[in-house]
Amino acid sequence: MMNRQRSRELFAEAQRYLPGGVNSPVRAFKAVGGEPLFIRRGQGSRIYDEDGNEFVDYVCSWGPLILGHSHPQVMAALKRALEHGTSFGAPTQLETTLAQMICTAMPSLEMVRFVSSGTEATMSALRLARAFTARDKVVKFAGGYHGHSDGLLARAGSGMTTLGIPDCPGVPTSYASNTLVAPYNDVEAVARLFQDFGAEIAAVIVEPVAANMGVVPPRPGFLESLRDLTQRSGALLIFDEVITGFRVAYGGAQAHYGVTPDLTCLGKVIGGGLPIGAYGGRRDIMEQVAPLGPVYQAGTLSGNPLAMTAGIETLKVLSQPGVYSALDAKSSLLQEAMTAAAAQAGLSVSIPRVGSMLTVFFTRGLVLDYESARRADTELYSRFFQQMLMQGIYWPPSQFEAAFVSMAHSDEDIASTGAAAGKAFASLASGPR
Ligand SMILES: Cc1ncc(COP(=O)(O)O)c(C=O)c1O
Repeated sequence: MMNRQRSRELFAEAQRYLPGGVNSPVRAFKAVGGEPLFIRRGQGSRIYDEDGNEFVDYVCSWGPLILGHSHPQVMAALKRALEHGTSFGAPTQLETTLAQMICTAMPSLEMVRFVSSGTEATMSALRLARAFTARDKVVKFAGGYHGHSDGLLARAGSGMTTLGIPDCPGVPTSYASNTLVAPYNDVEAVARLFQDFGAEIAAVIVEPVAANMGVVPPRPGFLESLRDLTQRSGALLIFDEVITGFRVAYGGAQAHYGVTPDLTCLGKVIGGGLPIGAYGGRRDIMEQVAPLGPVYQAGTLSGNPLAMTAGIETLKVLSQPGVYSALDAKSSLLQEAMTAAAAQAGLSVSIPRVGSMLTVFFTRGLVLDYESARRADTELYSRFFQQMLMQGIYWPPSQFEAAFVSMAHSDEDIASTGAAAGKAFASLASGPR
C-alpha cells in the first residue's frame, strides 16, 4: 500500500487557507474521490510526491510540459535568464523572438499579443472580435472551455436558438445572453444560429480539437464549415489553441486540419511551464489593439522574460525534425495498448486521440460532443484512475480531461502504462459494474 500520509497532512493544512486546498478546482480530485498528491518535483516523465512516491505523469501540468519535466535545455536557459532579473515592465528582445517564432509556425498569426493566461487570451480575443465587427454576440460550443471569463461561463438556454444562460453563480444574465451555445460537431446548429442571429454574431470561438470534455476530435468538415459560415456572415473565426497549439502539430490544429482562423488563442506549451497566454491573427485585426488601436488590453507581467525564455527554448526543441512523429508514435502505441487491454478485459471503452492527447472514455457509444461524452461512466473512470495511481501512473483526475504524452515518456513508460491499464481494466471488469 502506497504511503500518502504527508500529502494528506499537507492537504489538511492547505484547506485552512486555500478554498478546497487548491488554486484550481480539478486539482482537488473531487471528480475521482480521494485526496490530491502534493508534488515535490518533476523530472522527465516522472513526478515525485512529498511522501517520496514516483509516478509516470500524463497530466504534464495540464498540457504545457510537452518536453516533460525539467527539460535540461529549458532549465539551463531559465537559470541564465534569472541572473538578469525576473520582470521589467518594459520591452525585451525575448518578446519579439517568441512572437516571431509563433508567427512563423502559424502563418495565420501576423501579429501577436502576450498575456499571462489562456483565460486572458480568449477574453481579450473576444473583446477584439467584438470591436472589429461592431457586434456583440459570440458562439461557443457546449463542453468547450475557454477559461473562466464571465461571458464564456454560459450554457445553452432552453431551445437550440435561444440565448445563453449563466453556467456559474456570479455571472450576470446579461453577459451570458451574448453567448450562443451549440453542440460540438453540429454544423446545422451553428447554421441555425447564424440564420437567427447572423447580423449580431461577432465570432465563433472553438477548440479545434475539443479537449475539455475529454478529447473529442472535430468531424471531417466541421472546422471547414465554421470557416465558411463565419466568412459569409462577416463574423470572425477564433481557434482556441491554448491546448492544441504546438501540441497536435508545430503549427497547431490549424496546420493539422488545414483550416485558417482569423484569430488564434494560445497558452500552455508556448510558455514551457511558466504562466503565459497569447492571442494573435490577421494584421488588420491586431492593429486595433492598444496602443496601436482603440481596443484596450494590458498586463503587468505580460511578456514576462522568464515565460518568454521557457517558451523560446521549448519551441526550439519542438521545431527539430521528427519531434511530432515521435510523439504521435508513442501516443499511438499507448492508445493501441489500452484499447487492446480493454477489449481483453471485456470492457467498453472509446479512446479518441489526436497526436499526443487522448482520453479513455468508459462508454459504449461514439463520443462526438458534450452530450455523448457525458454518457461515459464516471464511476468506472474514478476506479480506473485510482487503480492507475496505485500502480504509479498519474492519469488525469477527471473523465473529462485530456491525458498528455510528452517527449520524455520512454517506450518503457508507455509499455508499463499499457500493462498497468490492463490490470486496472481487468480489476474493473471483475468488480461491480
Ligand atoms: C482550450 C482552453 N482555453 C483556455 C484555457 C484557459 O487557460 P488558463 O487556464 O491558462 O487560463 C484552457 C485551460 O485549460 C483551455 O484548455
